[in-house]
Amino acid sequence: MNIIEVKNLVKNFGGVYAVNDLSLKIPRGKVVGIIGPNGSGKSTFVNLLSGMVEINSGMVIFDDAEKLKKIKPYEIQDLSITRTFQEVRLFEQMTVIDNLLVVLTSRSVFGSFFEVHKKYHLEEAEKMLQRVGLEAKKNQLAKNLSYGQRKLLEIARALLMKTEIYLFDEPFAGLFYAMIKTVSGIIKDLRKEGKTVILIEHNMDLIRELSDYVFVMDEGSLLAEGEPNSVLKKKSVIEAYLGK
Ligand SMILES: Nc1ncnc2c1ncn2[C@@H]1O[C@H](COP(=O)(O)OP(=O)(O)O)[C@@H](O)[C@H]1O
Ligand SMILES: [Mg+2]
Repeated sequence: MNIIEVKNLVKNFGGVYAVNDLSLKIPRGKVVGIIGPNGSGKSTFVNLLSGMVEINSGMVIFDDAEKLKKIKPYEIQDLSITRTFQEVRLFEQMTVIDNLLVVLTSRSVFGSFFEVHKKYHLEEAEKMLQRVGLEAKKNQLAKNLSYGQRKLLEIARALLMKTEIYLFDEPFAGLFYAMIKTVSGIIKDLRKEGKTVILIEHNMDLIRELSDYVFVMDEGSLLAEGEPNSVLKKKSVIEAYLGK
C-alpha cells in the first residue's frame, strides 16, 4: 500500500530543472531513503511534498488506492505531513521548551504566547526534551543552542506534530555520535509506530541501517530504486556519486 504516489513531477527554477519528470511510489509505514549527489533535487522533492514550493506539472497523490486524491499544491499543507529542513528553522528568540509548547498548544506563535499551558502539555514537552537529550537546555533561548542541539530541537518539534509522514532532510549532517544514535533511535521508533519516514541522507551506513527502500536521484530524475544493499552496489549509482 502506497501512502504517496508521485507522477511525472516537474519543478524548474528558470532553466534549472530541479525535479524533472519524477515518478515514484512511497510505501506506507516504511523508512524510505532518498539519496543522490548534491544538487540532484532531493530537497526540492521534499519541498514539493510538503507544499513549500509549487509544482510546475505532474501530480502528488496521497493515501491508499481506495481514496486516491489528487492534491493541489496549496492543499498539501493540510495533509498529515511534517518535516525538518536542511537549514534548521526554529523560533530563535524563544526558549527551548517554548519552541515545543508552541507546537502543542497552538499552531500560531502569537496565540501561544497568551495561552496558559496546560500541565499535560508541559509534561509532554519535557518528555520530548528527554527523548532528544535536551532536558538540560530547557530554559535556554533557541538561538544559543549548538548546531547539533538545534537539529535535535527541530526534530522534537516535528515529532510533536504527530503526523503520519515525516520528511527528514539530512537530519544527521553535522551531528556527533551520541546525537546520531538519538536520531536513528527516533527513526526506528517511528517505523515501529507504523509511521512513514522519508529520509534524505548522505551517510550510506545510516541509509543501510535505517531504510527499507531507497530512491536514488540524479539531475532531478530517478536513477535507481530498490533495497539499500542492492541499490548501493549498482554501477550507475556509484558513478553518479563519483561524477561522470
Ligand atoms: N529556490 C531555488 N531557486 C533556484 N534554484 C534552486 C532553488 N532551489 C533549488 N534550486 C536548484 O535546484 C537544483 C536542485 O537543488 P536541491 O533540491 O537543493 O538539491 P539537493 O537537495 O539534492 O542537493 C540545484 O541546481 C539548485 O541550485
Ligand atoms: Mg538538499
